[in-house]
Amino acid sequence: MTPNRAVITGVGRYLPDYVMTNKELESYVETNDEWIRSRTGISERRILKDPDKATSHMAEKAAIDALDDAGISAEEIDAIIVATVTPDYMFPATAGLVQKRIGATNAYAFDLSAACSGFLYALSTGGMMIESGRAKKVLVIGADKMSSIVDFTDRTTCILFGDAAGAVVLEEGTDGGIIDFVHHTEGDEQCMLYQPAGGSKNPASEETVKNREHYLRQDGRSVFKKATEGMADVSLEIMQRNNLSGDDVAWLVPHQANLRIIDATARRMGIDKDKVMINIEKYGNTTAATIPLCLYDWKDQLNKGDNLVLAAFGGGLTWGAIYLKWSK
Ligand code: UT7
Repeated sequence: MTPNRAVITGVGRYLPDYVMTNKELESYVETNDEWIRSRTGISERRILKDPDKATSHMAEKAAIDALDDAGISAEEIDAIIVATVTPDYMFPATAGLVQKRIGATNAYAFDLSAACSGFLYALSTGGMMIESGRAKKVLVIGADKMSSIVDFTDRTTCILFGDAAGAVVLEEGTDGGIIDFVHHTEGDEQCMLYQPAGGSKNPASEETVKNREHYLRQDGRSVFKKATEGMADVSLEIMQRNNLSGDDVAWLVPHQANLRIIDATARRMGIDKDKVMINIEKYGNTTAATIPLCLYDWKDQLNKGDNLVLAAFGGGLTWGAIYLKWSK
């Protein structure tokens, strides 16, 4: 019997209209366009300005776009996973808000927290639900309103992040789809990248607000070192496990945190730059949304049978890679 495989049948996205340029950031912190572009590759990012709208709004729009691309209705969806570190609320889950708004009445829904690796963890989770035969159609969404936890007085972090959502529909198939994945976690006691307050360890109080502890903090240099190693190592690991050479890979789909990390990964994989999806210049680091945003931007260039390596590294620490054969 041919095993069930999980194949991507639809890709969608949502980008807020507001474009925040590097120039604008120069008016908030001591920085400059040249520094940001040369150190990160970022020129601009999108910001969800409407104070009434949160991550669920972007996730909902991306979900509708993906369903439309797949040509299926919301009622057909069995499960919804939203990967995010900026949920609307600690609970209820953002995935449930999306489920209600899009009318996915037959789906159960939950959030998954794995920071920048969130979309890959969610995609492999959704894939296993389909491979097991428990679900036939799963909506996997990566969505983050990073501007809600970015400190716009901290020049080491505020230049990096943007807001967006990306989504894919996974369905049962026999040809291609998710072939393999490798995920790693190294619980980070030192907290190189984290949000100090707002959880059960350090609940919101006047003190935490005063200390700006509800904003994300990052030890950029340490994370950079770990990310450069981790993303390349895990990409090579998945290639070796599946006997893939650089020539066999049609596209590297990397998390967009820093252009220098992406370049180093491609070099170690032996992949030409023209086979690497890069859109960090336009959107910055949108955390769980970067990889589906890439799939969306490149979807017209993808051909059936293309070997894709998706790779990410982020807070947690978490990192991973997925080997996917494009089947749309
Ligand atoms: O997606 C989740 C995972 N996150 C990542 O993968 C991010 C990893 N880290 C990075 O991408 C980089 O470390 C950053 C982009 C955050 C920083 O780049 P860097 O080349 O590592 O810079 P640095 O931290 O070593 O700082 C170099 C200098 C410092 O000045 P001094 O000490 O040399 O005088 C910083 O104070 O650049 C200074 N600096 C800035 N200057 C202008 C730091 N931020 C800025 C800024 N504008 N925005």
